[in-house]
Amino acid sequence: MSRSIPEPWRIKMVEPIRMTTKAQRKSALIEAGLNPFILKSEDVFIDLLTDSGTGAMSDRQWANMFLGDEAYAGSKSYYLLSQTVEQLFDFQYTIPVHQGRGAEQILFPLLVELAKEKGASEPVFLSNHHFDTTKAHVEIAGAKAKNLICASSLQTEIVDDWKGNFDLNKLSNEIKHNCKNIVAIIITITCNSVGGQPISMGNIHSAARMARDSGIPVIIDAARFAENAYFIKQRDSQFSHESISKIVKEMFSEADIFTMSAKKDGMVNIGGLCCFRNNESLFRQAQTRCVPMEGFITYGGLAGRDMAAMAIGLQEALNEDHLRSRIAQVEYLGHKLQQSGIPIQTPVGGHAVFVDARKILPDIKPENFPAQVLCNALYLESGVRAVEIGSLMMGRDPMTGQQEPSLFEFMRLTIPRRTYTDNHMNYVADSLIDVVKKADMLKPLEFEYEPKILRQFTARFREIER
Ligand code: F0G
Repeated sequence: MSRSIPEPWRIKMVEPIRMTTKAQRKSALIEAGLNPFILKSEDVFIDLLTDSGTGAMSDRQWANMFLGDEAYAGSKSYYLLSQTVEQLFDFQYTIPVHQGRGAEQILFPLLVELAKEKGASEPVFLSNHHFDTTKAHVEIAGAKAKNLICASSLQTEIVDDWKGNFDLNKLSNEIKHNCKNIVAIIITITCNSVGGQPISMGNIHSAARMARDSGIPVIIDAARFAENAYFIKQRDSQFSHESISKIVKEMFSEADIFTMSAKKDGMVNIGGLCCFRNNESLFRQAQTRCVPMEGFITYGGLAGRDMAAMAIGLQEALNEDHLRSRIAQVEYLGHKLQQSGIPIQTPVGGHAVFVDARKILPDIKPENFPAQVLCNALYLESGVRAVEIGSLMMGRDPMTGQQEPSLFEFMRLTIPRRTYTDNHMNYVADSLIDVVKKADMLKPLEFEYEPKILRQFTARFREIER
């Protein structure tokens, strides 16, 4: 008999969460304009909105926070962080930032400027898939963001180990025909937007080599780097005997720069990194932008204690017992849903189960937001908060005002690290199974208030008849 995998930690401190009645949830949801983003967290029982900054820190992290050096310049904690980065990733130059998008905002304009100096007239970034703030920062920097994700990721029922992979033919074509406009390639590990799906080592090597051979910088968007390394160890026999730390080094050996939201695998509640392997000149320029935007170069918008916690979190992220239990928990929830016939992105991703709302609510049109409808129904049923990753998040084309077509209509059940137990997962699964049984009673949504940009965060909705 196969044994279950117990969590490699015990609980030392608990935070009570509050179960509400259906009537309370109904009134909270109405007050929130039928938008779970606007709910107060105390009205949420199990919060699966995001895995970003919502995980639990370890006792070692908390202990090290007391040792944080709060000096404005030259903080000891900065040097600890930068040494850790060098040890784990072989990157010489570290800039701390307040979170992942902080790295994007200081880095991308510099790269666009460099590309323009070399003759780019229509600058473009290529990625397996840009995360939405990444795309936003590419656009703010005056460039376009193009996604070159492999075809298998678009069909949720197809099982493919590497749904985060680049379509290498498309990448090679872009490089062949549009080389001078390409600012950089961004390898997002794991690929959040298509379901927390990993990218294979082979694909990382090939994509990076293609770029390098044409003088194009390679960036890793490293938010979930450790989970990607774990999938490589599990799924690629060439790496089954390698340590996670070695796999991480090999992945990062292909990058010139990495940006990281440390709120995910970095295991902290706030923080990020913008790091350079050996390009000192670019590092210096990024530091110059860091000062007015994030803060002085040795704190980047963070307290010394935040940097201390991050240095420990990055090391803990590589712990294989942690990764095994983490990925197993997400898989556990995914498999429970699958066993009840609920369609999800397969195989289950690293940080979340992505439920295919298009299949559950086939007659609700994208512009009536089937995944948002499902999120609301799940909240009403159970107090569980999930998030829409679909047409609502995609938004409108700024030129035409038309709804941008979305590759998916996902409801993401995002699992914070070291926070909930499998009993919580059982409750989430049972609740969603009950909701899906009543799917034909759910009503489409339309806007009562639609903000011009980033509308998913503050929009308000009303229900309409089918
Ligand atoms: N890159 C990826 C792949 C991400 O998933 C995120 C954030 C970022 C960059 C930006 O980092 O939030 O620290 O500024 N993802 C969160 C999520 C918000 O819910 O998936 P940030």
